Amino acid sequence: MFTVKDLSFAYTSGQRIFEALSFCFDGAKSYHIMGENGSGKSTMAKLLTGHLESLPGMIKQLDKHKGVYYLSQNSLDNFVCINVKTELKAWSMIRGLKQVGEISMQVIDSLQLRHLLHKPVYKLSSGEQKLMALVPMWFTTEWVWVLDEPFANLDAERCAIIAELLMRKSQEQGNIILIDHSPWAKKLGFEELLLSDGALHKVVQSEPGKEIDVARGGSFEQ
Ligand SMILES: Nc1ncnc2c1ncn2[C@@H]1O[C@H](COP(=O)(O)OP(=O)(O)OP(=O)(O)O)[C@@H](O)[C@H]1O
Ligand SMILES: [Mg+2]
Repeated sequence: MFTVKDLSFAYTSGQRIFEALSFCFDGAKSYHIMGENGSGKSTMAKLLTGHLESLPGMIKQLDKHKGVYYLSQNSLDNFVCINVKTELKAWSMIRGLKQVGEISMQVIDSLQLRHLLHKPVYKLSSGEQKLMALVPMWFTTEWVWVLDEPFANLDAERCAIIAELLMRKSQEQGNIILIDHSPWAKKLGFEELLLSDGALHKVVQSEPGKEIDVARGGSFEQ
């Protein structure tokens, strides 16, 4: 899915987030990245999807023919239009996805969001914003997904719908990088990685059937 070589990154405020990091995300798999608040998970998602630029270092998308659907942790960052309905139209125009209108209405009904279509996105609740931002998942199932906290702010019924879609895509083709703190993410059975001290580590189970041992299970570096 992505290969990363010697990635270093610091915000202009000076804080060094990554230093010469190298790893490869296999497109056939799905990954769940965990890590403490402030460990750099969202920064990594932005670097992978080109919303931030690494200097120096190199990030290469291996399957270039695939689009990338990125869900930002900050829901409002996911919208370019003020109105939800126009946003969905813009999605179909920008991405050339003809089926967007039809599919998105089915999805909007299954998520019970139709009454919100004409509202400005900034007037939606946090959960409503998140759900609207997640609607493109249904028409980008062939793409690579980089999702930063899709379960945050959602009720259990909506979490179950999102989890089911994630599970289906993961089983059919992989190509998911999921960042999330919620128990829903842990249930999906994705390969678990811990971002800590600027490095990615595979997480191992301390004992079968027991809670995940977040002690480092091995380096994920190439
Ligand atoms: N635009 C920015 N300018 C300066 N520093 C930033 C910026 N965005 C994030 N940071 C800092 O970079 C570090 C990593 O932030 P990041 O948002 O990647 O963490 P995170 O692992 O996603 O945390 P959380 O679990 O809380 O979402 C934090 O210390 C944060 O304060
Ligand atoms: Mg984050």
